[in-house]
Amino acid sequence: MRRSVVTISRSPTETRQFGAMLGRAARAGDVILISGQLGSGKTTLAQALARALGVRRPVRSPSYLVASAYPVSRRSIRTFYHLDLFRLRRLSAVDAAVISETISDRQAVVLAEWADRLPGRLVPTWRRTSVRLTVQSERRRAIRVSGRLIRSVLARPGRRSSVSSVGRARLRRRAA
Ligand SMILES: Nc1ncnc2c1ncn2[C@@H]1O[C@H](COP(=O)(O)OP(=O)(O)OP(=O)(O)O)[C@@H](O)[C@H]1O
Ligand SMILES: [Mg+2]
Repeated sequence: MRRSVVTISRSPTETRQFGAMLGRAARAGDVILISGQLGSGKTTLAQALARALGVRRPVRSPSYLVASAYPVSRRSIRTFYHLDLFRLRRLSAVDAAVISETISDRQAVVLAEWADRLPGRLVPTWRRTSVRLTVQSERRRAIRVSGRLIRSVLARPGRRSSVSSVGRARLRRRAA
């Protein structure tokens, strides 16, 4: 079975559409870990994902805090937490406590930018979706997804198939 799937985005709009699709698929308890170099599109994707979850306020990266909370009322999701770990060179006890608190909130969707700075032990594997953005040219980005929401990426209408039918059948069986 495929563990990750790559989608090519050719514009900020395509990245937003991709983020919105993940937002529509997300459920309470999901933790979405986004990584990628400066300017790769992490915030562009995060904002579209938040909007699709029903977040009304524009999502901006918190400058002093590790996490911002936005109210949501959709599909038993009460809160969207946006974490930006860019400034996190060393995880202080306070940062770790704040992050753990967001992750322990099972009525929330948590999204972390610069998630490679997050100690893996903080997020249970089965709740994780990892999204890695790679800059391929000025407007082209590769978006690699693995983890819980991979199924929604594979099920995307019009997606060019790069997964074997055997892989798909296994995914369906696991989903059943
Ligand atoms: N296919 C694309 N997808 C997303 N952004 C794109 C794409 N093509 C060009 N861009 C541009 O790349 C930039 C991405 O900015 P964004 O703030 O989303 O990145 P980021 O990864 O959050 O950066 P940072 O690490 O600095 O916070 C924007 O200026 C956007 O217009
Ligand atoms: Mg950003």
